[in-house]
Amino acid sequence: MTSHTVLITGASSGIGCAIAKVLATQQGNTVIMSGRDSNKLTSLASELAKNSLAHIDSVTMDVTDEGQVAETINKVVKKYGAIDTLIMSAGVSIHGYFSELQICDFDEVMNTNLRGRFLTAKAVWSIMAESGHGVVINISSASGLLNYPTGSIYSATSAGVNSLMDSMALEGQEVGIKVVNIVLGQVDTPIWNPNDELVNDARKGMLTPESVADYVQFILSRPTNEHYRTTILHPFAVQPLLRGRNRGPGGHFPKTNTVDKTVEDKQTFRI
Ligand SMILES: NC(=O)c1ccc[n+]([C@@H]2O[C@H](COP(=O)([O-])OP(=O)(O)OC[C@H]3O[C@@H](n4cnc5c(N)ncnc54)[C@H](OP(=O)(O)O)[C@@H]3O)[C@@H](O)[C@H]2O)c1
Repeated sequence: MTSHTVLITGASSGIGCAIAKVLATQQGNTVIMSGRDSNKLTSLASELAKNSLAHIDSVTMDVTDEGQVAETINKVVKKYGAIDTLIMSAGVSIHGYFSELQICDFDEVMNTNLRGRFLTAKAVWSIMAESGHGVVINISSASGLLNYPTGSIYSATSAGVNSLMDSMALEGQEVGIKVVNIVLGQVDTPIWNPNDELVNDARKGMLTPESVADYVQFILSRPTNEHYRTTILHPFAVQPLLRGRNRGPGGHFPKTNTVDKTVEDKQTFRI
């Protein structure tokens, strides 16, 4: 049985948590769950370990903290000998009209979603390159491919993430690191505002975090020579949320409740 060590960022919730659960079903895996909330992670990890064939561990790591990222990844490598697969799912979403958004909103989303991915991937890159193998799976958003009112910061960071991953994928081929970017449409997770009626209506049409996790497991099960470099994974259903979102208000995510404006619905689109 070959051993496979996987570090997952954003494993305390939503997509990252669902990926941890799927990978926990496989003997030989060591699944290391990371996030900022150590109490939540410890309790999730010990619950998961009860019915798991894999070895489960957890580490506290804020992806915006350069020192903490480097230190945590070094500790993990020291403990387990390697990180074979890094899965980057840590992220935040702040939406709102450009006129309302604050510089601190921009900094938070950029630092977490784009800079955080740069820091985390950079911390494993040289270790993987030295060993001549490694897989980096990134969870990204279709918001990086299509813009919409209230999405300026989130879309800009997602577009940045997609570009970062594509360059890394090309460079990774030269050193044995396979970079896989999964670009997602809407997935029903706690990132969406639970108090927004429009969101709650749209949830049934969204992807589930479990279906994203199954796709990650599929990718990891494929022969080394196959490279799913960029995949767009969308819900098939047309969702009322998108029309609503286009009209505003931009309150579909938890931090945008203050925006209460209406703009004319000029177009309808899917993301
Ligand atoms: N849900 C969607 O519709 C959707 C669609 C496309 C892409 N995505 C992307 O998918 C990723 C996962 O989102 P989700 O929907 O699963 O959201 P979620 O349920 O809110 O999970 C977000 C995770 O990120 C972690 N996190 C946030 N800031 C962090 C930081 N500074 N350092 C470390 N961890 C941090 C959170 O953990 P702690 O707060 O405990 O640290 C949590 O585990 C995000 O990057 C999101 O942009 C989501």
